[in-house]
Amino acid sequence: MSDEPQQRPTRPIDVRSVGREHVRVDGRAKVTGTAPYAVEHDLGELLGRELPLLHLWLVTSRIAKGRIESVDASRALAHPGVVHVVDHTNAPRLQGDDEPELLVLQTPRVSFRNEIVAVVAAESLEAAREGAALVDVTYAEEPFSAELTDSTPTYKPDSVNPSMPTDTEEGDVDAAIAAAEVLVEETYRTPFEHNNPMEPHAAMAVWEDDPGGGSRLTMYDSTQGVHGVRSAFAPMLGLEPEQVRVLAPNVGGGFGSKGVPHAPEMAVALTARALPGRAVKLAVTRQQMFSLTGYRTATFSHFRLGADDEGRLQALEHRVVEQTSRLKEYAEQTASPTRMMYAGPNRRTSHRLAMLDVAVPSWMRAPGEMPGAYAQEVAIDDLAVRCGLDPVTLRERNEPEIDPDTGKPFHDRRLVECLRRGAERFGWADRPSEPRSRQEGEWWVGTGVAASSYPMMAMPGNTCRVEALHGGRLAVSIGAVDIGTGAWTVLTQIAADALGCPTEAVVLRIGDSDLPSASVAGGSSGTSSWGSAIVAAAQAFREEHGEAPEVGAVTTAAAEENPEKERYAMHSFGAVFAEARVHRWTGEVRVPRLLGVYSVGRVVNPTTARSQLLGGLTMGLSAALFEEGWRDPRFGHTVTQDLATYHVAAHADVQRLEAEWLDEADTVATPMGSRGIGEIGIVGSPAAVVNAVFHATGVRVRDLPVTPDKLVGQL
Ligand code: MOS
Repeated sequence: MSDEPQQRPTRPIDVRSVGREHVRVDGRAKVTGTAPYAVEHDLGELLGRELPLLHLWLVTSRIAKGRIESVDASRALAHPGVVHVVDHTNAPRLQGDDEPELLVLQTPRVSFRNEIVAVVAAESLEAAREGAALVDVTYAEEPFSAELTDSTPTYKPDSVNPSMPTDTEEGDVDAAIAAAEVLVEETYRTPFEHNNPMEPHAAMAVWEDDPGGGSRLTMYDSTQGVHGVRSAFAPMLGLEPEQVRVLAPNVGGGFGSKGVPHAPEMAVALTARALPGRAVKLAVTRQQMFSLTGYRTATFSHFRLGADDEGRLQALEHRVVEQTSRLKEYAEQTASPTRMMYAGPNRRTSHRLAMLDVAVPSWMRAPGEMPGAYAQEVAIDDLAVRCGLDPVTLRERNEPEIDPDTGKPFHDRRLVECLRRGAERFGWADRPSEPRSRQEGEWWVGTGVAASSYPMMAMPGNTCRVEALHGGRLAVSIGAVDIGTGAWTVLTQIAADALGCPTEAVVLRIGDSDLPSASVAGGSSGTSSWGSAIVAAAQAFREEHGEAPEVGAVTTAAAEENPEKERYAMHSFGAVFAEARVHRWTGEVRVPRLLGVYSVGRVVNPTTARSQLLGGLTMGLSAALFEEGWRDPRFGHTVTQDLATYHVAAHADVQRLEAEWLDEADTVATPMGSRGIGEIGIVGSPAAVVNAVFHATGVRVRDLPVTPDKLVGQL
């Protein structure tokens, strides 16, 4: 059998389970605590042999930049239970230089504060931790730069995440700004934000040397993509992909931070390599997650909007300044929503990066879209105020005929319907047009709106295998990962409908790189990408084996690339409405109501989809009011490195929260009719809250988060 699966066009599926509530297939295991996460597995059981288990603890750098002069592990090694200390002097060598973030313990160079400088392996967690405290590291410190300010020097990256143009320009922005009747020229800022999934980054691995030659790495990892980890790690470890197996049956959240492998996972693999035949495991501490597992860069968005006196945009300019790390470039695509959201003949966007000696920034839920849409949607609200127009009307007036970015027609752009439906449901018609016009007791009360969008993405490289089992059951295998979103459930529903069988007949197999290849649970593309492969394989299986297949009948297939992608600009849209109450004397902000109305194609499972959208809205509320990472420029250290100082919205912060969606099926996007829901919920939600705070108080805060100090004294 050839390795290349057949590429097939897909037909829209007949929906029976898809579109309906279906209880989470992993729900019982989750709530009874029997669903194992990365470090709760038994590698010995998986491999069928006794494996001694060692616990790992990371030693991280106490300087922001320089060289390690010496590592003295003797006191650590003398501690009872400590078995081994890996540092740059004795670590197995890694190959290649494409992934500098993953080249762990290879050189004495230190590139940021809290970089991994050694790993302690011990028989107990306590011994590993104590051993780590006993490793003596001396450094030669070098001058460094770790502060992002308006005067930090910047450069122009070649492209922005994932591979978009850095700058765009159309028409004559400066002339249009000069001629504009209404002008907004403001800077909007978002702070450093840190992904904080409840399950930390964690991994467990064993390296086995076969006496007959050949080696094998087997690893449980808390990741958004098992094949991504395998393809990154295998060549660096000098292995063929088949010699690496990565498993992730359950993952306790990612929010983008587990979308690409980070240094701690490689530290686990490397330590396993140094200690063949022993299972090693590591759970990154909450504090270490603030430097070792990615975060969202702070962004400065310099906006200029020029409009005529009816609010029609003539010029849009969005110049972004943000930050990357010297170790590895990451360029957040913050201006991307400005390129496609509103009409206007003259447009300019740009991204500039400050290269600092800091931890490596990375994906965080709706990279670019979230901070960029925050800036744009508050700028649009600023424009509405200056035009004396209702912000919903202003947005309707600037609906583009075609995608201003690509020039292609939009497929199913239903933003206006989302705005109108949300306005109706929220009671927008009763809103006073003047800000600061409603007071209830000690509280100013107001409402705000923001639009949201997210590109429809489907990733290549997905293959699915369908096999007939005994008892009329069908095994459906693809290396997808459920990071808590409901993939176990929705892929079961999609497979059942594509195969024409009940969900109980589907035996879904995911979360293992030994299964057919799958793309990352990222870019809100998981269900679209994996689902299309499942549909392709299921439709091929039915054609090849009929409706009563013999046991053992098997078909492997991949979905052909969607030809409609070339014809249309495909995005999801939404409208978020918020009510804010601001306390006159303390500046405390409460959000009693937050509503999102979305156009996301067909919703595969309303139960799990609602959780995604409510979770996104909550994360946006959290960004609006609380989340703010602080780095001390004297040390390059993130001081807000726990959930006490870096507050993430908790139950008491969230009041009435609602999400609904338009009834639709986008079979141009995918054979399921769905378009992706993981990220759009966080887009628009921060701006809606900030706009509501303005409407309540008449005080415009442009820098997130809206903490009381930015309001108090003006109320
Ligand atoms: Mo998402 S931040 O693309 O994993």
